Parts: sequence; C-alpha cells; structure tokens
Amino acid sequence: MSLSLRHISHRRTSCSKIGAKSFRRREPCKLSVPSAIKDPKTTRSLDAKEFIRKHILELAPYKSIVPFDVLSEKLNRPTSDIVKLDANENPYGPPPEVFSALKNIEFPHIYPDPESRKLRGLLAQECRIPIENIMIGCGADELIDLVLRAILEPKDVLINTPPTFGMYEFDCSINITVNVPRKPAPSFGIDVKSIKEAVFKNNAKILMITSPNNPDGSVISREEIEELLELPCLVVLDEAYIEFYGVEHSLVGEVPKRQNLIVLRTFSKRAALAGLRVGYGVFPLHLIEFLWRMKQPYNVSVVAELAACAALSNPDYLEDVKNALVSERENMFEMMSKFSFLEPYESQSNFILCRVISGRAEELKNFLESDGVIVRYYSSPPELSGCIRVSVGLPEHTVRLKSALLKYMENSK
Ligand SMILES: Cc1ncc(COP(=O)(O)O)c(C=O)c1O
Repeated sequence: MSLSLRHISHRRTSCSKIGAKSFRRREPCKLSVPSAIKDPKTTRSLDAKEFIRKHILELAPYKSIVPFDVLSEKLNRPTSDIVKLDANENPYGPPPEVFSALKNIEFPHIYPDPESRKLRGLLAQECRIPIENIMIGCGADELIDLVLRAILEPKDVLINTPPTFGMYEFDCSINITVNVPRKPAPSFGIDVKSIKEAVFKNNAKILMITSPNNPDGSVISREEIEELLELPCLVVLDEAYIEFYGVEHSLVGEVPKRQNLIVLRTFSKRAALAGLRVGYGVFPLHLIEFLWRMKQPYNVSVVAELAACAALSNPDYLEDVKNALVSERENMFEMMSKFSFLEPYESQSNFILCRVISGRAEELKNFLESDGVIVRYYSSPPELSGCIRVSVGLPEHTVRLKSALLKYMENSK
C-alpha cells in the first residue's frame, strides 16, 4: 500500500483542527512525521516498508477466521443450519442473566472502570484469592501479550511446548521462542527434563505451559508443574479450559503463595462469552504492579464486565453447561472411535483432536464443511498434520457430525 504525501499532510491538518483535548484524555494526536512528508511540495509516494518496524514487516499475514455470517453466505446455509465445531466455542451460550443485564445496561456512555473492580471482587470470592492478585483482560489473549511485553526484551527467550496454542509464538515474534516439543501422540505430555535443560541453557525468562492443552486436551500433572516451578523463570500456566478438567486441579490458589507462577483463565469457554472478550490473570503482587502501569486503561468494556459479572451470578447454570459438555465429549469420543479411519485422542477439554488415518484430513474437513459441519484442520506443524480438531457441541451436533461422517464413508467407497 502506498500513501500520497498530500493525503497524509491533509489528514494531519484536520487532526490538529479537531483538538485532541476535547476528544480524548490522553496525548493529543501527535504524528511523528518524517521530514520528507513535511514538505508539501514533495509528491513522492510513500511505502509502508519505510516506516513499519522491521520485525512487523517480517510477520506472516494475519489469517483470520471466517465470521459466522460470512461462512453462512459462503456455504449458502442459514447460521441455524451450520454446526460450528472449529473454535472451541460454547454452543449453550451464557446464562439468561447475561442477556437481561445487557438489555438493561445503564451507562454505555461512561468509560468503564479501568480496574474492573466488580468483576475482580467476584472472581476473588470464587477463586478464594485476594483481589489484588487479579487483572482482567480483553480475553486471555490480551494478558498473554501483556505479560510477554512486560518481561521480554528483544531477543529474550520464551520456552514453548508445541503443539500448543499458537498465540504464544505469535505474541513472541520479536523475541526468541525455543520449542521443547511435547511427547508424540497419544500422550502429548510435556518433556520436563528437556524443558529444564532449555531454561538453563537459554537463560529463559518465561515458560509457557497449557493445561488442558489446546489442541489435544492433555493435562500436566501437579507434580510436573511443581518441578517446573523450581526453575529460575516465570511459569505462565494457561488454564483456559480448566473447568472441563475440574477446577479442583487449578493452581490459581497457589499464585499468592509463589513468586513465579502466573495463571490465565477465560470467560470464552466456560461462560460462552467468546464474542465479548473477557479473560483474567492471577499474578504475583511484585509483577502485577507493573502490568497495571502498562495496560490500556479501558481494555475491558462496560459490556464485557457486565456480562462476566452476570454470568458469575448463576453458577448452577455454568456447572450444568460444563457437565453437559463433558458428558457430550464422552459420547462424541465413542462415536468417532467407531469410524475405522479416525483415531481420536483422549481429551480433558471441550474439544477432541483426531487423526485421520486413511484418506486426507483436508478432504474430510472439506466434505464435512459441504455438509454444514465445520471442524478445524491442521496442515502443520508435522506432529499435527493429518489431524482435525472437533469442538464438543450440543448432542444434536454430534448427531449431525456422525451423519456427515457416514456420508463421507459412503462417498469414499
Ligand atoms: C489455550 C488457550 N488460551 C487462551 C485462549 C484465548 O482465550 P480468550 O478468548 O479469553 O482470549 C485460547 C482460545 O482459544 C486458548 O485455546
């Protein structure tokens, strides 16, 4: 993309005319303009490559998910006829209290509480930890990014255990990610000995671990985590799916007692609020102080905080939905195991990773899609290639999946 110089200088003028003070609380619109642009007679067109930071230029283009309504158009099916099992979303939706709270929203015109005090108070009660250890984010995604930016200088090392959630490596693109691969399927367990060696060898500042892990649903034992907590680095434990394994396995209560443990959680899965973007992190006090200084003041919208508080007001609903998904996971696993061309792996989460033994995983994914069933397909990394990941849905979604798999089998004869 190239911008004409005239265009930029015009935009700059109008920006200063608006008068940033009347608009925003922070710094006025101060563009730092390279001297070449300041000369209005210059007509040379600009190339973003002259301005963008080098590591951003090297980033792979963002591959976005297809929005639900666009998908519906593409497949020529109403959204009600699409079984969307590709993003570990919770098809039950949030409790009814969330809808009434949003309908009765009082102050959408007022900025949100930068400290999300109501929500943090409720979480402090639920997790039985001091409110001071909790920070809310625009999804757990924001907090992963915030922690990495707070800790890592360019070229500092993060230890990652792939295959796992792709955002860790993505957020770490300016730094160095040292990968310590997980054990092969079906275990997908972490390799504690190699992780320890890698931490010492690279003087790593952060170790990212995920339990249950995305995309396979395997978990890390308490003993393994204890051993890793002995390391001289921060251990970020991502518990985005912990409810489906059992909150009794969570280490959230350990954070205030430790110096180097961070636990991340989300409302996207358990409370079905993925679209509203609310996650939270539990941090040691010596660290959270600096995250407060860094975070955008209004990172959590009024709507997001309201919805999360309302969701927590109905724990019975959340528990019932979690139980329904866990029981459906077992049904889905049994159903998939009966197809000779599929090898599903045991999962403690709300999705099942499945190797497509004969035939091609991509072909299967496309076939299912044409039948209105959307699953996640992996072409890489090598340990996942030939796999699909299927989110657990409603019982009727399992029925649709089974029927599409039967059609695929018939078709491939
Ligand atoms: C392991 C893991 N952590 C974090 C997230 C992001 O959660 P959020 O929706 O709160 O940003 C996901 C989303 O899929 C995930 O799989």
